[in-house]
Amino acid sequence: MIAKTAAAGGPTLLPEVLAFTSSLSLDRALIREDLLGSLAHLTMLSRRGIVPQEQARAIREGLVSIWDAVQAGTLQLPDEEDVHMAVESLLTSKLGPTAGALHAARSRNDQVALDLHLYVREQCAEIFTSLVKLLSSIVERAEVESSTILPSYTHRQRAMPITLSYLFAAYGAMLARDIDAFSFVLQQADASPLGVGAIAGTSLPIDRQLVRELLAFERITANGLDTVGDRDFALDYAYASSRLLVHTSRIATDFVDFASPEFGFIRLDGAIACGSSMMPQKRNPDLFELVRAKSGAGIGNLVTLLVDMKGLPSGYNRDLQEDRGPILATGPLVRSVLEILELGIGRVTFDKMRCLQAVEQDATQATDVAEALVQKGLPFRTAYQLAGTLVRACQDARVPLANVTTEMAQAVDPRLDDEVLAAARIRGAVARKTSPGGTGPDSVREQLQSLREVVTRTKARVESIPRVATLFAQLREASL
Ligand code: ARG
Repeated sequence: MIAKTAAAGGPTLLPEVLAFTSSLSLDRALIREDLLGSLAHLTMLSRRGIVPQEQARAIREGLVSIWDAVQAGTLQLPDEEDVHMAVESLLTSKLGPTAGALHAARSRNDQVALDLHLYVREQCAEIFTSLVKLLSSIVERAEVESSTILPSYTHRQRAMPITLSYLFAAYGAMLARDIDAFSFVLQQADASPLGVGAIAGTSLPIDRQLVRELLAFERITANGLDTVGDRDFALDYAYASSRLLVHTSRIATDFVDFASPEFGFIRLDGAIACGSSMMPQKRNPDLFELVRAKSGAGIGNLVTLLVDMKGLPSGYNRDLQEDRGPILATGPLVRSVLEILELGIGRVTFDKMRCLQAVEQDATQATDVAEALVQKGLPFRTAYQLAGTLVRACQDARVPLANVTTEMAQAVDPRLDDEVLAAARIRGAVARKTSPGGTGPDSVREQLQSLREVVTRTKARVESIPRVATLFAQLREASL
């Protein structure tokens, strides 16, 4: 077994130490990336004459048969220190010493860096797909909710009336920024580390640009000493994921709140509401609560990675192996949250009457009254005070601001004429917000249009991301 040879500590290594230091239980998830990297490296070694073609052909056959077994779900990995050693051990049992030719000009240090770059790129493609799915369903929902009026909130107190379309467009704006953040991650990960070897390069006549090209990376990493100790692309990935999960947790809280009778804005479909084991009447928003809670694990992954990296000396350190847990856990977490949120929001129906009542019961159009006075030439502060006096008069008379009569308003101040009062009508208050980025219909239409463009752009982007399986399929047929 390789784990017992000099490559991984020698035959004296205690089994307890091997067990403690092994990463195979986690990094077996990287086997497809590892095989692809090996195939690209082998192709380069063969074309550069470092490995004779005959040997290269045999090694390629070995790698391909391992890949096929992975795809068929039949691969048994030997008990080794890590996935790289496990693959080498499998190859050695198939080919004998010939297998050892593959590791020329390569170290597990650049190998693991490569696997992780490929993995993060693959995950970005998957996350983009889930993000786009959620974003398009949010945009579609926004399109049909332009006549649903509800309050917006500051300090969780009713603020200004908005359309539900506007709220969904706000969620869309968050997700569009997440797409930007993952585009940055993709750009950071788009560099081929292979060929820097253990740390300082190699004296063998390798071609790093060829490997880069075979793996469809944009560039090669600049400095080997930096490369083997660099996990910045993984930190960016964990950060983008955490920030996305913070967004989904905030969206989820809106839905948890809206489902409570105190708001009463939404009804939870029987397919997504969970019950209580004791209280027969309960319909709980567990789905949204758990979306909210799961952001904790994502943030934990980011913090674990940051702390793992902090204070490491330059070069490779075994501490880096602990990046595997957080990196591998992040993608599935993010995707499961995006997918369930899409399903959950799709099953929610809004109670339009309750939403409107929440606006009507309060004086959420007070700012609009003040602004109507400003349009008549009053300084804002004066208008603000006047509108405030009108609101108090309405409260004393127990009349919603939307229903205030000309007589009541005139009794407060003659400047509160019918033209000004028109601003207190709720739909008018929404329609009057014509400023860009506001809740007015034209503004929301523009917001939704630009979100649709993000969807189209991102779908095209996903198509252009090189995928592990496609690259492997190309390389297994490439000339050696
Ligand atoms: N299992 C190691 C890791 O994941 C591979 C690199 C080990 N390098 C070494 N020189 N021991 O980081």
